[in-house]
Amino acid sequence: MKYRTFLVCACVFLASCNLESGEPKVNGRWYTPSQVQNGEKIYAKYCVECHKVQAQGTASWKERDQDGFYPPPPLNGTAHAWHHPMSILKKTIDEGGIPLGGRMPGFKEKLNEESKLAVISYFQNFWTDEIYTSWISRGGLN
Ligand code: HEC
Repeated sequence: MKYRTFLVCACVFLASCNLESGEPKVNGRWYTPSQVQNGEKIYAKYCVECHKVQAQGTASWKERDQDGFYPPPPLNGTAHAWHHPMSILKKTIDEGGIPLGGRMPGFKEKLNEESKLAVISYFQNFWTDEIYTSWISRGGLN
């Protein structure tokens, strides 16, 4: 009997832990709706001025502007962002494109790991399932 009581308590305890940390993910993706919501705020504060609403970027992102720079590309799955695994996306956000002759500032000092993951989840949430699956099969989670 004692053992049984212990088991019941252990199960209830484990189930409640799971409920707290186990928010369901979006459609089998790596992130949760809360991460997307948090990412939306970060995006609005730091990224939207360049990458535009809903991560649509600049239509002519493939052509250099009059100053010889590439405009901010879409992050919504219609450009190249999905060619990069997570580690490179995080590095791009940390360091920006200025060290590579581009224009994007780095956000190392402003965004911690959690915030970077949230903002990535925000723009990935615009990716179609097809693009997301391609990203995964190219090792996107690396
Ligand atoms: C001042 C404008 C500007 C801001 C602000 C900015 N970006 Fe960028 N971003 C760019 C440009 C321009 C590029 C293309 C590379 C370059 O020129 O640096 C780029 C490239 C990227 C890429 C690589 C895309 C690819 O197709 O390879 C990612 C990812 C990215 N930005 C994410 C972000 C996120 C997330 C934020 C907000 C935290 C942000 N950017 C803020 C201008 C900006």
